Amino acid sequence: MVRNRLCEILQIQYPIIQAPMNWVSGADLVAAVSNAGGLGTLGPNSGAKTVTRDVERTGERMRRQIQKVRRLTDKPFAVNVIVGMGESLRYSKKVTDVLIEEAVPAAIVSVGRPDIYTRALKRAGIKVLHAISTVRHGRKAEDAGVDAVICEGFEAGGHKGFAELTTFTLTPMVSDELRIPVIAGGGIGDARGILAAFSLGADGVYMGTRFMVTRESESHPAVKQAVIEGEDVCTVSVSKEFMLARDLRNQFTRSYTDLKSGDAGSEELNRFLKDHSQYHAQSLGCVDEAEICCGQVAGLITDCAGAGAVVNDLVKNIDARLKDLKQRLSGLL
Ligand SMILES: Cc1cc2nc3c(=O)[nH]c(=O)nc-3n(C[C@H](O)[C@H](O)[C@H](O)COP(=O)(O)O)c2cc1C
Repeated sequence: MVRNRLCEILQIQYPIIQAPMNWVSGADLVAAVSNAGGLGTLGPNSGAKTVTRDVERTGERMRRQIQKVRRLTDKPFAVNVIVGMGESLRYSKKVTDVLIEEAVPAAIVSVGRPDIYTRALKRAGIKVLHAISTVRHGRKAEDAGVDAVICEGFEAGGHKGFAELTTFTLTPMVSDELRIPVIAGGGIGDARGILAAFSLGADGVYMGTRFMVTRESESHPAVKQAVIEGEDVCTVSVSKEFMLARDLRNQFTRSYTDLKSGDAGSEELNRFLKDHSQYHAQSLGCVDEAEICCGQVAGLITDCAGAGAVVNDLVKNIDARLKDLKQRLSGLL
């Protein structure tokens, strides 16, 4: 793979980004991906074993993970800022302050407006990648001065807006509209997905679920096994108060959907989510009773390799997949 404009901006070898994952993407995973030439990203609660609602502690836990990444790699990496709104802005403000104090190379900013932190992050020399799910959000992010946008399609694991636009439709629409680099995320699990993303106009790819099932990921072994066993229809999109979440189908998704379609109020629903959270699945191993964010691409994942080997394989297989593509396209060329 030749270094493209996204690689130049991020100073990385391959335009392959390991997406941030709550309780999953800690320093070991981030360093393994970055050492292999991609961009690793620290997610919320990385390296943590307990839940905290303390703003200071949240930020300081992230600072320790950043420092750990630096002991494991001298390559660029990113850290996730979940913007949020209302009370949760206190957390994102603290995390942003830590990113600036620690002078991290890049921030992946998600779930919120691009005009809140972009200027401060950029002023500190930090590259800003902003996750979007519609063309309008993309335009706003470009206007706010971000370095690149990440198109998060409906296939993606985790939380996103209500737009339901797929990677296949969102990526070309956004790349037609914006001048800055576009990164495609959601549903990419192998070299075929990478080629498809680039055909749609992307300058890079963003992969979460594939990296959740790697040796260095902090995901509980039982969760990794459940994803490996997952087939094509193993995920479902569940509707929450302010967004959608794509999760592995299990007793949690069934119970939550039943509660939601019944007469449960928002207090009861929120209590249920808190008692059956990603922490319970990813840290404690409650694979059936708790929430496991997971993308549709789970059906393509059959092994739990090292994250560096995953990056190497993705890159190695591009050539063969490209040859195969050219052959199948020959009738049209
Ligand atoms: C287990 C899991 C946890 C996630 N947690 C976060 C998060 O904390 N912050 C965030 O911005 N996105 C989060 N996401 C979304 C990913 O960053 C990314 O958008 C998604 O995984 C891409 O789609 P894919 O899973 O098909 O590769 C999460 C995804 C997964 C699978």
